[in-house]
Amino acid sequence: MDKIVVTGNGALSGQVPIAGAKNACLTLMPATLLSDEPLTLTNAPRLSDIKTMSTLLQSLGVEVSSLQDGKVLALASHDVNNLTAHYDIVRKMRASILVLGPLLARHGHAVVSLPGGCAIGARPVDLHLKALEAMGAEMDLREGYVHASAPGGLKGGRFTFPFVSVGATENALMAATLAKGTTVLENAAREPEIVDLARCLQKMGAQIDGEGTSTLTIQGVDRLHGATHPVVTDRIELGTYMLAPAICGGEIELLGGRRELIGAFCDKLDEAGIDVTDTENGLSVKRRSNAVHAVDVATAPFPGFPTDLQAQMMAVLCTAEGESVLEEKIFENRFMHAPELIRMGAQIDVQGGTAKVTGVPRLKGAPVMATDLRASVSLILAGLAAEGDTVVSRVYHLDRGYEHVEEKLSAVGAKIERIPE
Ligand code: EPZ
Repeated sequence: MDKIVVTGNGALSGQVPIAGAKNACLTLMPATLLSDEPLTLTNAPRLSDIKTMSTLLQSLGVEVSSLQDGKVLALASHDVNNLTAHYDIVRKMRASILVLGPLLARHGHAVVSLPGGCAIGARPVDLHLKALEAMGAEMDLREGYVHASAPGGLKGGRFTFPFVSVGATENALMAATLAKGTTVLENAAREPEIVDLARCLQKMGAQIDGEGTSTLTIQGVDRLHGATHPVVTDRIELGTYMLAPAICGGEIELLGGRRELIGAFCDKLDEAGIDVTDTENGLSVKRRSNAVHAVDVATAPFPGFPTDLQAQMMAVLCTAEGESVLEEKIFENRFMHAPELIRMGAQIDVQGGTAKVTGVPRLKGAPVMATDLRASVSLILAGLAAEGDTVVSRVYHLDRGYEHVEEKLSAVGAKIERIPE
């Protein structure tokens, strides 16, 4: 397994291009299953999770062509010949559950393995199933698989999510586009990835109102057609690289960055003494003085502070002046980076869903282990500002969500190297 070695190398400067969003692309790809005409996605990120979704779709009979070095994905679902998503693929990537709604809506039947737990929490899929049941689907759980059917087709329904779920909103939204009649989804997720999905579905002929608000109203249509759609900018990759000059000093311009994707995060950076400026091509970030100030952070669904940036923010707060309190409110076990940061000299006290971080002047390089995607990149950020070498193992987590991370960071002056094994 590859390792990444990061050596603290002082301030950074230059530009980092931000890719299309992994989490948008992973829901746009299954949308192809809703139509027999081609769907072309541009600005796709080059990531292992995207390859896993391609493999899953191919196993269902979807033609997937990766063009322009993977930046364009041409998908065609005119010949779907298998309605079962097998455990072997689903266990690798939870987003596989997103084929359930589209398969059910177009074919009236689908069998999808239950994903099981994962490193950051139990992550059940009950809301995905309940929202589809509200559209008339029947669910049967057998031998680890959900057998879903809607013999007469899905029917418009009303469903109020008891709490916000990004994936369940996506599954229900896709399914509702082909249901007979009107579907109303209340307390729906408002993440930019949901808005992007709605925009793509609208191009395919779907009738959707309210994207970006908590109420989605979908008027079902008989069929959807083909479309070409650019994947929205990855706000989590954006936020991650915004934190590099925050922890190391210097100034970085994030090409393609937009403040509205990440408003609450920008507000928190301002409070911590980090300036974010709009530029012609994106956003530019630098800290106002030598050290950032401690801030308290509580994660929340969009438009709140994203859980997917909590680990990276913790890395930065490890060297802030004062004591910060981070509350993780979305996932029950998302502090696994804390013990690794402690190995680098950080002072962190985790009690349940709350972590108290007392800033130290400087972290020290150490061998550390990546436990999940965002945890792994938080260790890289910490390594950029630490004294000496930080050796991050299990970097396959990183390759799920960050394309060309070594190239992007080296280009702004970081000392970072992949050691293949
Ligand atoms: C999406 O996961 C993202 N993944 C996650 O990205 C992100 O952390 C999360 O949204 C929250 O923003 C993709 O888009 C592929 P949820 P998702 O349903 O849809 C509970 C990353 O690092 N829940 O909004 O699975 C759930 O356990 C990641 O890129 C149920 O209880 O998240 C969690 O506590 C990891 N029942 C909360 O809701 C359900 O049926 C929110 O999860 C569904 C969810």
